[in-house]
Amino acid sequence: MGKGFFISKTLGIVGILFAITAVATIIALSVVYSQEKNKNSAGPEATTATQTTATPTTVTPATTTPDPNLPWNNYRLPKTLIPENYKVTLRPYLTKNDQGLYVFFGNSTVRFLCKEATKVIIIHSKKLNYTMKDGHHVSLKGVGDSQPPQIDKTELVIPTDYLVVHLKSDLKAGHYYEMETTFVGELADDLAGFYRSEYMEDDKNKVVATTQMQAADARKSFPCFDEPAMKATFDITLIHPSDHKAISNMPIISTDDKIENGWTVTHFNTTPKMSTYLLAYIVCQFNEVQKLEQNIQIRIWARPKAIAAGHGNYALNVTGPILKFFEGHYNTSYPLPKSDQIALPDFNAGAMENWGLVTYRESALLYDPESSSIGNKDRVVTVIAHELAHQWFGNLVTLEWWNDLWLNEGFASYVEYLGADFAEPSWNLKDLIVQNEVYRVMAMDALVSSHPLSSPANEVNTPAQISEVFDAITYSKGASVLRMLSSFLTENLFKVGLASYLQAFSYNNTVYQDLWNHLQKAVDNQNSVKLPASVQTIMDRWILQMGFPVLKLETSTGELSQQHFLLDSTSNVTRPSQFNYLWIAPVSSLTSDGKRLDEWLNGSKSAIFNNFKVSGNNWILLNLNVTGYYIVNYDNENWKKLQDQLRTNLSAIPVLNRAQIIHDGFNLARAQHVNTTLALENTLFLAKEVEYLPWQAALSSLRYFRLMFDRTEVNTPMQAYMNKQVTPLFEHFKTITSNWTQRPPTLMEQYNEINAISTACANGVTACEELASSLFRDWMRNPSKNPIHPNLRSTIYCNAIARGGDEEWDFAWKQFQNATLVTEADKLRSALACSQKVWILDRYLSYTLNSTLIRKQDVTSTITSIASNVFGQNAAWNFVQVNWKKLFQEFGGGSFSFANLIQGVTQRFSTEYELQQLEQFKENNMEIGFGSGTRALEQALEKTKANIKWVNENKATVLEWFRINSQ
Ligand SMILES: *[C@@H]1O[C@H](CO)[C@@H](O)[C@H](O)[C@H]1NC(C)=O
Ligand SMILES: *[C@@H]1O[C@H](CO)[C@@H](O)[C@H](O)[C@H]1NC(C)=O
Ligand SMILES: *[C@@H]1O[C@H](CO)[C@@H](O)[C@H](O)[C@H]1NC(C)=O
Ligand SMILES: *[C@@H]1O[C@H](CO)[C@@H](O)[C@H](O)[C@H]1NC(C)=O
Ligand SMILES: [Zn+2]
Repeated sequence: MGKGFFISKTLGIVGILFAITAVATIIALSVVYSQEKNKNSAGPEATTATQTTATPTTVTPATTTPDPNLPWNNYRLPKTLIPENYKVTLRPYLTKNDQGLYVFFGNSTVRFLCKEATKVIIIHSKKLNYTMKDGHHVSLKGVGDSQPPQIDKTELVIPTDYLVVHLKSDLKAGHYYEMETTFVGELADDLAGFYRSEYMEDDKNKVVATTQMQAADARKSFPCFDEPAMKATFDITLIHPSDHKAISNMPIISTDDKIENGWTVTHFNTTPKMSTYLLAYIVCQFNEVQKLEQNIQIRIWARPKAIAAGHGNYALNVTGPILKFFEGHYNTSYPLPKSDQIALPDFNAGAMENWGLVTYRESALLYDPESSSIGNKDRVVTVIAHELAHQWFGNLVTLEWWNDLWLNEGFASYVEYLGADFAEPSWNLKDLIVQNEVYRVMAMDALVSSHPLSSPANEVNTPAQISEVFDAITYSKGASVLRMLSSFLTENLFKVGLASYLQAFSYNNTVYQDLWNHLQKAVDNQNSVKLPASVQTIMDRWILQMGFPVLKLETSTGELSQQHFLLDSTSNVTRPSQFNYLWIAPVSSLTSDGKRLDEWLNGSKSAIFNNFKVSGNNWILLNLNVTGYYIVNYDNENWKKLQDQLRTNLSAIPVLNRAQIIHDGFNLARAQHVNTTLALENTLFLAKEVEYLPWQAALSSLRYFRLMFDRTEVNTPMQAYMNKQVTPLFEHFKTITSNWTQRPPTLMEQYNEINAISTACANGVTACEELASSLFRDWMRNPSKNPIHPNLRSTIYCNAIARGGDEEWDFAWKQFQNATLVTEADKLRSALACSQKVWILDRYLSYTLNSTLIRKQDVTSTITSIASNVFGQNAAWNFVQVNWKKLFQEFGGGSFSFANLIQGVTQRFSTEYELQQLEQFKENNMEIGFGSGTRALEQALEKTKANIKWVNENKATVLEWFRINSQ
């Protein structure tokens, strides 16, 4: 695969699709480059005295079951050879060759140390053809006085991606060797390895050669020991057309344009010791903006027009502060002399943290004050913070193997909020983590098909298995439990342990226990923070068992009990846990008289806390600011008192906990811990609520109601209730924005203004519908001047297209095709899915198979947008069933987005008929397979069963409740 990867955090609004989104990807780093250079130059020199070569042999893909005892049939490399340095020269051709292929030529010399005598060299190689000039495959040299053995034969083993060199005698332990290869590969548009991206500029097609190595595609660019622990130094050379620029992880040390007419050779400085998956090299005609901050050269690269229009300026503004923040946070200086960030027209992940050369989707790096929304800006600063966080945590210190990816990604997904908050201190970004990570992932982690954060190394082997680790549990649960850890340790103590970990393992690899050990040392060296057990003992419960608990408090007795929280309370947990699904949980509290008291529930099923006992009119609230990764239930009386407090004076309860009450209430109801009406009663205070987080929690929770009921008779009273609750909010924003002519001042208010409009329009608030249609009509009348503020575009477009016909759709389609800014194109692309005409949606689905109409990277999100529209649900599901084979061939292998696709088209499933269809789909496509969507398919089956049951049990009550409360 080779993916940073992409999470679309759709802020689902009742009736509307709009993606504010965010993201994620991979890594981190450390020592100053000059130190590293000294180490290298002290290394042994190669001799050319002896040299052996081998001719290629035919490739024999295994026809019978491969013998697992042969090391080249094993997906993991043997530990016999350790690379030290690679010298790699690559020459990409940006025009087609005679066979109609885009190709790159390359040669590479890897120097390695033999740790254990062996008669075979096993090195990763994928889709490369070897072309030594003398007809040989590889040549082997000894370094110093090492004599290279004779080569017996070489072969390519396709299933495991190896080039295997069989020797006539042993390589000797303790000796260094060098192996040289010459090869050719395809510069395909497959978004993996060394690949090509294309874009149009002034009607001319431009080609960019770029890379995406993570997780296992460096081997597609040159033969290498392609595992994260096989760190080495790299000397990269690019041979490229002289009118193109070359960029890589390190600064350029020299260029030579005299080799041949029109070609230039660019040599880059030696990298520090690093993992192959963090390499990057790019040949393009982009421009850059730059500045020098704290001696780090910061550059933002993009298409010349985007740079000229100033779209890189925001990224340039925030990068310096973010780097400065992380230097402080890690107490470690930025490990490289420069920081390049580049926006690519075709990029599979959201972004990828290649060391010193971070690659992004355009929408994750470019910001246009004229046409980007506040959500786009939030995304840019957050993704940059995520990727830069990896420059230390992940790049400088790297996890040994992909099974520990959760620590790498969870960490970056947590500290991205801290880094972005430093760059935009007025935005209150740290609170958003609860909605965007904690609640988002709880929805998945509450299923029996969830899985522990950490998996054993031997369960993650093949590229497809590695790709599957890149899921929401890894990113968002990782972030959630690390935030909890940081919160109970205190952030300062967490930082002390973190800095000590980074210093101990710079340029090296770790397992997650190494971080625990350094945090434990920090705890042991002070007296103010006391834990009930060691960091490891506490954290094991959160990372080695799946799921999370619901804590239930009986306020009359102070008894607090815990239970594994399952969305479907009747489902069977078959995955055993050594901790019997009991957790060690930090529990903070707030009482109605303003007292805060903290306790630990220490792994027992229940315990009595006198501090948590309340009586009379007093209430108590647990999990202050939702720092604990669990949900909370109370006795009915305490719930009622909380509801009364909210309806009389909601400001007595912190805003994150107002969101929590709504979120936890709905989840408890789904799992039958409380009545559905209790959860619905929790939303009554919204009529007086103007803050974003509680509204967002309500809209996300009610999204489930919408999905289950928007095809039933519940829909009408449900809309009437929402209409009643949202009308005051709509009026509030109408007033503070002077009738929608200006934007409110803060990020959260701007987000909630969008919620107000999309919710009002989706639930029939007439003033809203008129607003949407009239703004859109103004634009249609004068297409060159869009009168709609960028923040409001997604929702206005969507509602206007939903209410309009083919005229509105065709206009938006034309605007989509002409859009010069991806963020604008993305808004149009998802709004186009809002049509209520099935034939229009069918035609739109067919466009996703034509990459000149919808870019490959956008196919899944387009299909899922259509599926989330009630009018497009069936069409999208049929489309996926009919075209599964095709989709799989196009996107198979290891694309994360397969899981999103399956999740997206099945999210409304709630009837026996739909369950049957899904089972049939699974059966029909067993042979083709589901790739990285395998787990998502199991989850979809489980969710569908739970939905059927839930709808049966709740429909009548819900219908009744909405009828009464919409009066
Ligand atoms: C690659 O080939 C060029 C031209 O033959 C040669 O100068 C260079 O040393 C080779 N590089 C490596 C790393 O083998
Ligand atoms: C590699 O060799 C195969 C088989 O001869 C051929 O089909 C393919 O096009 C070659 N790839 C490149 C990039 O030349
Ligand atoms: C970047 O910073 C400059 C100087 O503070 C400011 O004038 C400019 O508006 C900022 N640009 C963006 C897009 O935020
Ligand atoms: C890397 O860490 C391991 C222990 O985890 C240690 O044995 C080894 O010496 C370290 N390597 C370097 C180069 O620091
Ligand atoms: Zn990441």
